[in-house]
Amino acid sequence: MKRNIVITGGAGFIGSHVVRLFVNKYPEYNIINLDKLTYAGNLANLKDIEDKPNYRFVKMDICDFEAFYQLMQDEKIDGIIHLAAESHVDRSIKDPFTFARTNVMGTLSLLQAAKLYWESLPEKYEGKRFYHISTDEVYGALTMNHPEGIEPPFKTVASSEGHKAYGDDFFYETTKYNPHSPYSAAKASSDHFVRAYHDTYGMPTIVTNCSNNYGPYQFPEKLIPLFINNIRNRKPLPVYGKGENVRDWLYVEDHVRAIDLIFHEGKIAETYNIGGFNEWKNIDLIKVMIKTVDKILGNPEGHSLDLITYVTDRLGHDARYAIDSTKLQKELGWEPSLQFEEGIEKTVRWYLDNQEWMDHITSGEYEKYYEEMYKGR
Ligand code: NAD
Ligand code: TYD
Repeated sequence: MKRNIVITGGAGFIGSHVVRLFVNKYPEYNIINLDKLTYAGNLANLKDIEDKPNYRFVKMDICDFEAFYQLMQDEKIDGIIHLAAESHVDRSIKDPFTFARTNVMGTLSLLQAAKLYWESLPEKYEGKRFYHISTDEVYGALTMNHPEGIEPPFKTVASSEGHKAYGDDFFYETTKYNPHSPYSAAKASSDHFVRAYHDTYGMPTIVTNCSNNYGPYQFPEKLIPLFINNIRNRKPLPVYGKGENVRDWLYVEDHVRAIDLIFHEGKIAETYNIGGFNEWKNIDLIKVMIKTVDKILGNPEGHSLDLITYVTDRLGHDARYAIDSTKLQKELGWEPSLQFEEGIEKTVRWYLDNQEWMDHITSGEYEKYYEEMYKGR
């Protein structure tokens, strides 16, 4: 079946993997990558598919309602997969306005344009989809009532060897929203608007909330690519607080396979949590990265441990994220494909093999921003 799909934020980390999968897997679809190309957007992420006949890039701000409404009509858009967002918590602490503008007003602008266009058609919402990609951070933070870790109630392929849970509780689809950072507050607000467009106007919406992603093409302000690059360059590794905070990590291509499945087979108005039951304390994860980079570079074991530098904690730093994705696994048969230690090794190799990609990003403007960000820490 032919479909005309807009993927917003397709030049970013997760978005570029979504665009690549859809362009390669569905040659009959017309895929439009809509992206403003902020500091986080990089068309070099899509070099391998940029000449495909079913792919087109459009530079646009999601807050530009008129331009997006026109695009909906010109391209007869019937599906939207919405990833464009400001995505970094540290930046949201410094500049919350930009997060409210893009994440809240930008999402609302897309919803309203889609509503006006789809309601003008004879078949209205039939065969349409507005799929909003969100984060588990909207649920707030879980307590760490088992700081040494306990046997977890669930496991998946993604779960690391000796996998542990650091608390009794998990984020479920029914968990009450309780965002703490300006980033998660803005994402929570956008999730509510998406659901409101279903509940009020009958728009066929779906929301998914995923845990922390890692893999190729992630902007090196986020923990994993930043630290791989710093280890390679023998630069300090700024660990916030005591490094005890827990994140639940999923390989980006496993997230993207879930997005494909849910876009095509997910139930309208439903929410699905996406995660691989793979909790890690930051400091333990950092040690795995150090071990992996040292091994690949031929350094003696422990060589880069001296780079660990404890710095002032992030304001309002959420203690623990851990997602329960049982619903997605049971209802749609999704499961992760990659075990965590394999995923980390694959990721480290990718960044070390693609140094040009990394050097391009970390030179110039970003370098200045990074220095400013860490001044005084
Ligand atoms: P990213 O920062 O790597 O990419 C964001 C993309 O959005 C960039 O290409 C940027 O240019 C574009 N963008 C930003 N503002 C825009 C605007 N006003 N108009 C048009 N384009 C704009 O982010 P990511 O890590 O790939 O995350 C993508 C989505 O997935 C976000 O909605 C994020 O909240 C969500 N998410 C991310 C993670 C994660 O671990 N990275 C986990 C769960 C959910
Ligand atoms: P990050 O990759 O920014 O993702 P998020 O804040 O969305 O979870 O950070 C992951 C964890 O690593 C988080 O607990 C903060 C911590 N962290 C550091 O300790 N040092 C750093 O330099 C960065 C960027 C993050």
